[in-house]
Amino acid sequence: MTDNLAFDQETAAFMERFYQSGDIVERRDTVLRRLSAQPGDRILDVGSGPGFYVEALARQVGPSGSVVGVDPSEAMLETSGRRLADLANVELRQGAATALPVEADSFDRALSVQVLEYVEDVPKALGELYRVLRPGGRVVLWDIDWATVSWYSENPERMAAVLHAWDEHLADPSLPQTLPASLAMSGFEEITVDGHATVNTHISDDGYSKGLLRFVSGYAAGRRGCTQDMLDDWAQEQKELDAAGRFSFSVIQFCFSATKPTT
Ligand SMILES: C[S@@+](CC[C@H](N)C(=O)[O-])C[C@H]1O[C@@H](n2cnc3c(N)ncnc32)[C@H](O)[C@@H]1O
Repeated sequence: MTDNLAFDQETAAFMERFYQSGDIVERRDTVLRRLSAQPGDRILDVGSGPGFYVEALARQVGPSGSVVGVDPSEAMLETSGRRLADLANVELRQGAATALPVEADSFDRALSVQVLEYVEDVPKALGELYRVLRPGGRVVLWDIDWATVSWYSENPERMAAVLHAWDEHLADPSLPQTLPASLAMSGFEEITVDGHATVNTHISDDGYSKGLLRFVSGYAAGRRGCTQDMLDDWAQEQKELDAAGRFSFSVIQFCFSATKPTT
């Protein structure tokens, strides 16, 4: 059963800091390059979270363009709203990927980064993206296949239990495996997929794994047999491995793009 991560005030505040760190900035640069927004474009960010994409895109599209960010979480909307307050060509709306509070055929480009993996009904969300893009419009999606996590531990059984518990934080831990076919079923064309390896050999402020350690420690207790003591020991082991120069974490993240046909 899914019991999604709560996108509350505490998570929003942490995410705003975490999403300014190296691995996530690099991911954002990759997505923005793939989206390739042009001056004057109207852009939709589904699951806009802390609002970093909205902020960057608002500058790229300029005063003749506009960006709408949609997110169901009040905490995320408040956090992003504070930083985006001075941007005139930005609008934030509360809503879900499966019922987008925007007009049909009204966006040149759309993006949704690490959001669809939280959505129970992905075909419905893709149908919504299709509805709101103009013919010829393009979407860029990014999701993680959590089955690709390779994370060293001298206690592999505990590591497996912790990662299994973490899988419960979203609706589909391996969404990238089925997303290309789902995009095609939804009517999209010109579907592309790229895999991006995130590799950390240290726990550093710029590394994805540092934030992940914090998220997993805060989420997994009471799930799949994980106790708080077990999680504390798991996190402590990772710090000790790091101090000994033996830390090793990697995961593959996937970037998809697809176009709504013109006819
Ligand atoms: C991991 S964060 C990613 C935020 C942002 N896309 C980024 O990469 O900077 C996931 C975001 O998806 C939002 N979210 C969760 N379920 C959603 C849904 N059903 N529809 C739209 N957004 C959702 C959360 O509130 C959160 O802001």
